Amino acid sequence: MRVKDKICVLTGAASGIGRATARLFAEEGAILVISDIDEEGLKETYNLLGDQKRKISYITVDVRNPKEVKEMIEFTIEKHGRIDVLIVNAGVVRVGPIDEFPDEDYDLLIDVNLKGTFYTCKFAIPYFKEQGEGSIITLASVAAHIGQVNHANYCSTKAGVLGFTKALALDMAPFNVRVNSVSPGATDTPMLQSDVAKQARDRGVDYEIVKKEFEKEGVLGRWAEPEEIATGILFLATDDASYMTGADLRMDGGWTTR
Ligand SMILES: NC(=O)c1ccc[n+]([C@@H]2O[C@H](COP(=O)([O-])OP(=O)(O)OC[C@H]3O[C@@H](n4cnc5c(N)ncnc54)[C@H](O)[C@@H]3O)[C@@H](O)[C@H]2O)c1
Repeated sequence: MRVKDKICVLTGAASGIGRATARLFAEEGAILVISDIDEEGLKETYNLLGDQKRKISYITVDVRNPKEVKEMIEFTIEKHGRIDVLIVNAGVVRVGPIDEFPDEDYDLLIDVNLKGTFYTCKFAIPYFKEQGEGSIITLASVAAHIGQVNHANYCSTKAGVLGFTKALALDMAPFNVRVNSVSPGATDTPMLQSDVAKQARDRGVDYEIVKKEFEKEGVLGRWAEPEEIATGILFLATDDASYMTGADLRMDGGWTTR
């Protein structure tokens, strides 16, 4: 129960890694404010949280919208008086060759993955500074570390998240606030499934063929379950990681060790 009664704010909680993280933190007794743009998915997550529900609030937030993000942080402060852990998880993927890449997909990647990360931290940071303690965790990716075919724009946003995290760790160190990222490899979530499905369609091959290629990228030869990434997020949130800041936790099944 290392986050018992800690006030934790989590974006992108309606699906995948965010949902698994909400479940794990709830099991660990955290007081959670979970958010997502997908109201239905968010309610589903909330309904999965069992007995812990009374300690959990959910709020629909589009992380591209600074007003909504600010309201989420202010809601948390009004209700709980502080934020111990901020998990900046909401993200999108769009793939395709650069010469055919739609501008609207590029804008979406930048707006959610980069601006959304910026806004989520921006409105929480004054409270972290005032408290003089806390932990911020962002979601980078293997795509921040290596190139992936047809992922140039996604890679650029995740490399941006990694740079943002390291620089913010310097800014927040004098305030005793740790800032770290997690870099998942191929993790079995709707995001990865849609990515693989699109690549399969574009190449005119079966979904299973592209899935197998992804599975072989990690030396463990399989995709991660979202719960296997949530454990890393939990670790960074706790005092077990008390001497870690500016670090990136690669949970990629060995993908980047080749
Ligand atoms: N699945 C993977 O293989 C993988 C690998 C590396 C990194 N990641 C990163 O992990 C994070 C979680 O991804 P996932 O695989 O669970 O994806 P997912 O699609 O299952 O979940 C992402 C969530 O973010 C939400 N979201 C999207 N746009 C939003 C917005 N504008 N405002 C608020 N919420 C929004 C979605 O509604 C969804 O619930 C992302 O940042 C992703 O880039 C995933």
